[in-house]
Amino acid sequence: MSRGKILRKLASEVLGEEVAKRLWGRIEFIGDIALIRIPPGVEYTELIPLAERILREFKYVKSVWGGYPGVRGEYRLREYVHLAGEKRSETLYKEHGCLFKIDITKVYVSPVLGFEHRRIAELVRPGETVINMYAGAGFFSIIIAKLAKPARVYSIDINPDAYRYMVENIRLNKVGHIVEPILGDAAKVVEERLYNIADRVLMPYPDIALQHLPYAVKALKDGRGVIHIYLHVKALKGEDYFAKAVRMVEERFKEIGIGKIKVLNKRVVRMVAPRVYQIVLDTEIA
Ligand SMILES: C[S@@+](CC[C@H](N)C(=O)[O-])C[C@H]1O[C@@H](n2cnc3c(N)ncnc32)[C@H](O)[C@@H]1O
Repeated sequence: MSRGKILRKLASEVLGEEVAKRLWGRIEFIGDIALIRIPPGVEYTELIPLAERILREFKYVKSVWGGYPGVRGEYRLREYVHLAGEKRSETLYKEHGCLFKIDITKVYVSPVLGFEHRRIAELVRPGETVINMYAGAGFFSIIIAKLAKPARVYSIDINPDAYRYMVENIRLNKVGHIVEPILGDAAKVVEERLYNIADRVLMPYPDIALQHLPYAVKALKDGRGVIHIYLHVKALKGEDYFAKAVRMVEERFKEIGIGKIKVLNKRVVRMVAPRVYQIVLDTEIA
């Protein structure tokens, strides 16, 4: 039986079919930690028996946490409550053959981005200089360094804990000769020292990507290259969310004096609320 089916069965046995339907898809595994994203209207105490069942059923899980809805603040962190097992929020998490040490309460992490991490790495050509403006614990940067052959990846984050884990993860994955970790505000870092050098810029933080777009352009070598822009798009009923995303991005480029861009690819990363989509556009200034 698949892990999803087992989770659905466990949730149904412990909490009944009605709650199970809303719950089983909200359980994630990060290393040896299981995370239950608490559905609205459910008290965390109601989830403790399920957390204990998860511990018994999945022997590799050592700790189970509940996550309250929504990520908050500049560092994009979720609020967590311990449910069962060891009261430990640090773990080792494997993705695409790379190892990441993270504390789920201190650093942004989302297994949903796993596909995206690999997709971008597969686009990077040998010898490229890449800037990751919002790197977190270094997922995109390290996976790119391992799977592609970039010359350099500058990996910026403003959260000191994310920076600390990024440094550790660069060491764990032996990519110190490629990935340079930088603590700071991406806009300032680009303005001060990373302008006119990149072939590719990643902007994996939808809340500020459009605002920071002038800095991504400034980072590109001779103003040419690829920018991966992540954004949230609210689509009304029947509205084409891709068309809206392209419009938003083209308008922003126009505002900063760039009239013509190519959209190389577009994809829905996930749904973040009813009718609100996180979309990535791979754009190119030629
Ligand atoms: C959505 S998370 C990034 C996810 C990460 N790239 C991944 O693959 O898991 C956004 C990150 O941007 C960082 N951040 C927020 N504002 C920033 C800024 N002005 N400059 C650099 N990093 C920033 C946060 O600390 C957070 O780690």
